[in-house]
Amino acid sequence: MIKVRNLNCVKDNQTILKDINLTIEKNEKVAIIGPSGAGKTTLFNILSKLDESYSGQIIINGHAIESYKDNKSFASQIGVISQGIHLIDNLKVIHNVLSGKLKDWSFIQSMISLVKPFEKEVALEALQKVSMAEHVNKKTAHLSGGEKQRVAIAKLIVQNPNIILADEPIAALDPKLAKEAIQLLIHHLDSKTIIAILHQVDYAKEYFDRIIGIKDGCLVFDIQSTQLTEKMIGDLYA
Ligand SMILES: Nc1ncnc2c1ncn2[C@@H]1O[C@H](COP(=O)(O)OP(=O)(O)O)[C@@H](O)[C@H]1O
Ligand SMILES: [Mg+2]
Repeated sequence: MIKVRNLNCVKDNQTILKDINLTIEKNEKVAIIGPSGAGKTTLFNILSKLDESYSGQIIINGHAIESYKDNKSFASQIGVISQGIHLIDNLKVIHNVLSGKLKDWSFIQSMISLVKPFEKEVALEALQKVSMAEHVNKKTAHLSGGEKQRVAIAKLIVQNPNIILADEPIAALDPKLAKEAIQLLIHHLDSKTIIAILHQVDYAKEYFDRIIGIKDGCLVFDIQSTQLTEKMIGDLYA
């Protein structure tokens, strides 16, 4: 469960997020929509502990976010996927997928695994789920955008965190690949809480239970996806 209380974020004297309050229950599928510059990525960065310039309270599964002192304990709670930088291009696919396991391994195990991958079966099983098993030994840089997104999903399957945060995970994909990626994400990580920032309102309505609208740093609606009206969408993007 995620609880956000009175979250404010100011940068360069500009208010980026204003009094955000949110409770997201275990297993909920929540889409966040809103125009560019609304503050969505800032919220994603704060919830994924990449940005600490805020005031307010964030509780992740009963513990204040700042109490997760090391990356390993945080990685068992939160996994992230975004448009870009979540894979290391120079590594083989297998190593990127197994990087989801780093939180469970000692430093020595992680080092050895770079030469001779540990738990290769775990990676292969996850790659099979996203139809990427035949690419296991390819250099990640040689994959297409859609294939990289599937590897990123395989990594999340291996990481097995409680909560998945996604920032425009499908923005760089064509409509067919985008749909496949969102379906894979929802299908294979269905037992998780998923919070995804999306530009495609149709997908938000189709695949998510709840939709949150953010505009000018403010939460303007927080509703069941069946309640979203054309007027709300029009006002949000106006
Ligand atoms: N590090 C920063 N310093 C100053 N302003 C920032 C910084 N990061 C983001 N902003 C500003 O915050 C606002 C929200 O940005 P962002 O969270 O990326 O929006 P979104 O993801 O909804 O498009 C924008 O006006 C952006 O210019
Ligand atoms: Mg953004």
